[in-house]
Amino acid sequence: MHKIGMGLIGPGFVGAHHIDAVRRLGFVDVVAVAASSDASARRKAEALGVPKAYGSFEALIADPDVQVVHNTTPNYLHGAVIMAALARRKHVISDKPLAMTGAEARQLWEAAANAGVVHAVTFNYRGNPLVQHARELVARDEIGPVHFVHGAYLQDWLLEATDFSWRLEPEKGGQSSAIGDIGSHWCDLVQHVLGQRIVEVLADLTTVVETRMKPASSPEAFARGDGAREPFTVRSEDLATVLMRFDGGAKGSMSVGQVCAGHKNDLWFEANGRKASLRWRQEQQNELWIGRRDGANGMLPKDPSLLNEAARPYAHLPGGHQEAWADAFRNVMRDVYAFIASGRRPDEPRPPAFATFEDGYRAAVIVDAILESHRRGGVWTKVDSLIEART
Ligand SMILES: NC(=O)c1ccc[n+]([C@@H]2O[C@H](COP(=O)([O-])OP(=O)(O)OC[C@H]3O[C@@H](n4cnc5c(N)ncnc54)[C@H](O)[C@@H]3O)[C@@H](O)[C@H]2O)c1
Repeated sequence: MHKIGMGLIGPGFVGAHHIDAVRRLGFVDVVAVAASSDASARRKAEALGVPKAYGSFEALIADPDVQVVHNTTPNYLHGAVIMAALARRKHVISDKPLAMTGAEARQLWEAAANAGVVHAVTFNYRGNPLVQHARELVARDEIGPVHFVHGAYLQDWLLEATDFSWRLEPEKGGQSSAIGDIGSHWCDLVQHVLGQRIVEVLADLTTVVETRMKPASSPEAFARGDGAREPFTVRSEDLATVLMRFDGGAKGSMSVGQVCAGHKNDLWFEANGRKASLRWRQEQQNELWIGRRDGANGMLPKDPSLLNEAARPYAHLPGGHQEAWADAFRNVMRDVYAFIASGRRPDEPRPPAFATFEDGYRAAVIVDAILESHRRGGVWTKVDSLIEART
């Protein structure tokens, strides 16, 4: 069978998981990695067992064996990497957030659509079987019209003043930190499950750790850096509360923070409908809570024999055999690469876990609106609906 060649730019924390996920598909060849220098690219290629190493992203993109470019660089490089890949008509799978601003995300989405290539953003929580099950329950009206969706995405890896990431530097991470980094996942996830878009937000953002000790060399995410440090004044938020209104009438609220001790990757949401409620929590991702008024509440286990047809292809092990973060990530890659392998055009119908640059744009304009709401003192702010002009 002809294998699809992939090359990855930015082999850091999440890059390694992109490589692991595509290797598990069986029909993708990991051809090359590109890092910020020849030496670091060679080191990463060796550690990851990848044959070719490039010290510049342009060189990787020019490699004729690379058909699909994965972009796992820090946020500020996303635009340049994606535009270079599109110029050579390579398919692009970018990590989130797609871009630094909604305007930049829109440019990337339009450029990708014009290039006629497949474009994807790894909103990987869509790849969980019980997320797809919940989505199907909502779509089939089994919980009734949803009037409230609420939840949180909390972590603690930036709690101490010595914790540091490029995400906190606006020129590298963007104007937003916690919202752009993890709030964007929450927003994409609930819009995906509800089939409703967030159209207005009211936000209160906080910087809990105002001065951090920045290491001389930038550590990868979740790593504790050692060595020399200098004080760094933080201007972006590490904690946020946001109220939201959806176009289908639902109201919502989300709490986002990376300074919440004990919470590691605590993403959860609950949707309350007129017939029933649903709750899914990433850290207990093999269970879906179903709440009822006139019957017993229940906990649905991730068991393929109990899942609806839409969700079954996302589960690979029998009930009681736990599936997790990396499996959902692989499901997203499976959906995208199966689409590429089938030769379908980018505008043809896609499997549900496959988020596109359009979804990346939708998330980016929500981040912009949240920042704007806070800047204006916490007032209701419309999410830019330029998107309507296209669709
Ligand atoms: N989907 C998810 O759940 C998820 C999880 C983590 C990170 N991310 C996203 O992935 C991206 C990377 O995040 P990370 O945590 O892996 O960061 P990281 O700092 O661990 O890795 C980034 C890598 O890019 C490399 N790099 C820097 N400049 C480069 C250049 N000019 N050319 C090539 N490589 C370069 C760095 O050396 C590093 O290896 C971010 O956009 C982040 O938001 C997504």
